[in-house]
Amino acid sequence: MEQSHFGVTPSGDSVAVFALQGADGMQMEAMTYGGIILSLEVPDGEGALEDVALGFDSLAAYTRDAYRSANPYFGAVIGRYGNRIDEGRFSVNGDTYTLATNNGPNHLHGGREGFDQVVWNAEPFHRADSVGLTLTHTSPDGHGGYPGRLDVTVTYTLAPGNELVIDYEATTTETTPVNLTQHSYFNLGGGDSESILDHRLKIHAEAYTPVDSTLIPIGEYRPVQDTPFDFTSFTPIGERIGAENRQIGIAGGYDHNFVLAREDSDSLRMAAEVYDPESGRLMTVRTTEPGLQFYSGNFLDGSFTSKSGAPYRQHAGFALETQHFPDSPNQADFPSTLLRPNETYRSRTVYGFSTPDSLNTGP
Ligand code: BGC
Repeated sequence: MEQSHFGVTPSGDSVAVFALQGADGMQMEAMTYGGIILSLEVPDGEGALEDVALGFDSLAAYTRDAYRSANPYFGAVIGRYGNRIDEGRFSVNGDTYTLATNNGPNHLHGGREGFDQVVWNAEPFHRADSVGLTLTHTSPDGHGGYPGRLDVTVTYTLAPGNELVIDYEATTTETTPVNLTQHSYFNLGGGDSESILDHRLKIHAEAYTPVDSTLIPIGEYRPVQDTPFDFTSFTPIGERIGAENRQIGIAGGYDHNFVLAREDSDSLRMAAEVYDPESGRLMTVRTTEPGLQFYSGNFLDGSFTSKSGAPYRQHAGFALETQHFPDSPNQADFPSTLLRPNETYRSRTVYGFSTPDSLNTGP
């Protein structure tokens, strides 16, 4: 574990970066600004380590206005509410709350000053077989328009078997919606691989939540069967991304919440698997959450450049954001995102990396 100074934010806060090394080879760099994962190196089929996370090599690249206004949220912790809230408005116990709108008419990923732009307190730790970083932050009462003070802990652990375990915990002083996630983009090809369209994706979901033209769910659980959203067996991401389909058209690709198959509410379940035939890398996503946003990097347009200066073009990376469903505060039929003062919010997601000899491509 190494800690170093990464830079100073425009408002004068000093930012540290931590380099973590897992027991089975994986390496990760994360910084206190936004809890952002800067790099994640995992072995390919030959054992060669490469960086599979999109990001930049300077703090300024993340804090400059051009980046913040287009915000693709590379590598960041997202809160208080991951994904969209319709027109930034919701009611709790009869009181209506108004949040910043930062994505057309909607509130996205915690608004203008979300957790992606906060400098977190960080404590590194070592255990017998793992290393990690505990990030803490207190979101003041009423911050950004949300009710209550929210105390948040996000823990990154590099566990044996090249697993990145992310644990989220939060408590509140007033009933408030909470939906925390992590917004890393991956390209399993590593380095400056240009596109994820050849990656094979499997999502353990029989339904997704279709959206209106502003990407707010219309309230329906729509079966994936016989649609471009059927990833119940491994399918190249690019195979149907240009299909004539209204939902694909609205988002310019995939930018949808999948309804994960659930046995019970609290256990860790397989949500998705992504395989890159080129490098032989397989990434698995397990989570306790009911939903998964699959975003195929549709809005990347080459205006941001990688650590080595290559442009991040459309579909340069994909994000698989474990979460409760978008706009849940306004959708009575979706699982509730309300956290009450006497409760503790807990959520866990595990990103696992391996290089299987053969891929079980069955359903
Ligand atoms: C959203 C996209 C958005 C991206 C970056 C994803 O979670 O669903 O619509 O462009 O985050 O902000």
